[in-house]
Amino acid sequence: MSYNLLKGKRGIIFGALDENSIAWKTAERVHEEGGTFVLTNAPIAMRMGKIRDLAEKTGSEIIPADATSAEDLQNLVDKSMEILGGKIDFVLHSIGMSVNVRKGRHYTDLNYDWMTKGWDVSAVSFHKVMQTLYKADAMSEWGSIVALTYMAAQRTFPDYNDMADNKSYLESIARSFGYFFGKDKKVRVNTISQSPTPTTAGQGVKGFGGFISYAEKMSPLGNATALDCANYTVTLFSDLTKRVTMQNLYNDGGFSNTGVSQEVIERFTEE
Ligand SMILES: NC(=O)c1ccc[n+]([C@@H]2O[C@H](COP(=O)([O-])OP(=O)(O)OC[C@H]3O[C@@H](n4cnc5c(N)ncnc54)[C@H](O)[C@@H]3O)[C@@H](O)[C@H]2O)c1
Repeated sequence: MSYNLLKGKRGIIFGALDENSIAWKTAERVHEEGGTFVLTNAPIAMRMGKIRDLAEKTGSEIIPADATSAEDLQNLVDKSMEILGGKIDFVLHSIGMSVNVRKGRHYTDLNYDWMTKGWDVSAVSFHKVMQTLYKADAMSEWGSIVALTYMAAQRTFPDYNDMADNKSYLESIARSFGYFFGKDKKVRVNTISQSPTPTTAGQGVKGFGGFISYAEKMSPLGNATALDCANYTVTLFSDLTKRVTMQNLYNDGGFSNTGVSQEVIERFTEE
């Protein structure tokens, strides 16, 4: 169903790798709601991913950019304004990667070079994206910037490893930059804290199967899907949420405020 919520709005969407990606679903929904956008991902993901299919489907252009490279980001912002014909109304940062998670390195035995790399890609890149947009005065007034996060930033999930720390940092950047973007440019900045979702990044976390089923049983409304996340993001890009900013917003079926559910109690009750 479409409500035309994003008619006339222009944006940049980072992180669509394949049809499971949260960014992929978001691009589809934004397109349905009348928004136009540039798709971007790391140059390596261009070769692995299917981003061209998405670009064709949504009538979008693709500009490769490593989100840790200031030069790539400058090029992305300049070219996006040219292609879209004006300033940017919405940006989705949907990027995450931990080398320690990928290589199965335990949290008590981190490789610090890998940790720094993952922090740069998963957290600092959000600052870099915003700093590039801010300095170029590329965002329209009442524009909206969203990044995706996970509740391991607030509570410990052992296998989430150093991504937990990256997400805490990411959420803090949203608040800190949100202040200046709000004051100086009337732009809002938020993070959405999403349920575990079966994507390439999600499935990279050890024990993901147990993790996602547990969250499902613990959430009164069940896990939020990638499509649910896309829909929530559309509302944050729309004019209906103009003064929502500097928030970490849970899209998790109630998981974050549930102490225990009946299903979980039953599983642990010995008759
Ligand atoms: N899947 C989950 O369970 C879950 C839950 C909560 C939050 N999130 C977050 O959602 C976001 C999107 O992840 P996803 O689950 O859709 O997985 P995904 O693997 O589909 O997307 C991750 C994206 O990050 C991109 N990326 C990696 N390094 C990059 C770089 N240097 N420059 C630019 N892009 C780069 C990848 O190419 C990929 O497109 C991430 O921030 C992730 O942490 C995911």
